[in-house]
Amino acid sequence: MRVAVLGATGKTGRYLVARLCHDGHAVVALSRKLDRLDAVDGCATRRQADILQRDTIVAALADAECVVSLAHASLAEPLLAALPPLCRWVVLTGSVRRSTALPDPGADGVRRGEAAFRAWIAAGGRGVMLHPSMIFGAPDDRNVGRLLRFMRRWPRALPLVVPLPGGGRHTVQPVYFEDLVAAFAAAVTPSRALPLDIEIVGPQPMQYCDLVRATAAALGRRAWIVPLPLSLLVGVAYVAATLGFKVPFTAAELRRGTESKRFAVEPMQTLLGVRPRAFDVGVREKVTRGWF
Ligand SMILES: NC(=O)c1ccc[n+]([C@@H]2O[C@H](COP(=O)([O-])OP(=O)(O)OC[C@H]3O[C@@H](n4cnc5c(N)ncnc54)[C@H](OP(=O)(O)O)[C@@H]3O)[C@@H](O)[C@H]2O)c1
Repeated sequence: MRVAVLGATGKTGRYLVARLCHDGHAVVALSRKLDRLDAVDGCATRRQADILQRDTIVAALADAECVVSLAHASLAEPLLAALPPLCRWVVLTGSVRRSTALPDPGADGVRRGEAAFRAWIAAGGRGVMLHPSMIFGAPDDRNVGRLLRFMRRWPRALPLVVPLPGGGRHTVQPVYFEDLVAAFAAAVTPSRALPLDIEIVGPQPMQYCDLVRATAAALGRRAWIVPLPLSLLVGVAYVAATLGFKVPFTAAELRRGTESKRFAVEPMQTLLGVRPRAFDVGVREKVTRGWF
């Protein structure tokens, strides 16, 4: 099948392109800048396209039988409006951030994209929207990668002290990038009927404090968690960022870390046949590969 991939240059998209080529698809990799496509698998055809420039995206998708987008969900509406008649199936990316109760412009964009997707399905379109939780593991991942780099810089002679809001008791369910790629590849040619959306998540929720401990353990270190009030940490992150210091997490990310996330993994396993790996396994793989 001819599959066009938007977001082909992204942290996850590069690996999805390689996987779809390996699965025997005729892959068309798209980017706003052609030279960024130098990094994608050589078996893919490369084309320039910007979802926000209608003529470029219409031309680039003209022969696509399936369109997969790893570009942000907020771009769903113009993308869906540019699909060719030939296109039989669409796989879009959302985010579990859609379910946050915090004020979050990123989540608002995901909800807008989801609404556009539902309207398109109601008008006769066919496809699925996959909603990843925190993705980690790719060489340039900004989630766990930042934490690993921070820990690597921390002098070995000093105890590795990590302040977390409330001691990091809230939960998160990170998904390893290769499990995400496997889920997208399965969604391109599903072996059974799929619902409109599926959450793509790690095997179970884990507390932030355990995420930090497992990350330190992957580097052969022990992390000492120090509970601090959120307001203090947000203030420190804000002042440090204002003064130009590198902080592992921004004030907005710290706030998001005080909301527990918990998602069902069974739909991903049953419908897409992907059993995601545990966080400690994924973070050890990342460290072994030297990807941080
Ligand atoms: N990282 C996470 O923890 C996380 C969690 C939940 C959901 N997600 C979602 O999962 C997806 C993949 O994440 P990622 O971190 O791998 O993405 P990423 O590295 O940020 O890549 C985003 C891609 O979107 C493309 N893009 C942006 N604007 C575009 C436009 N106007 N037209 C065409 N392409 C455009 C970029 O391609 P060019 O720059 O080459 O044009 C880039 O390849 C994203 O949709 C993200 O929102 C991520």
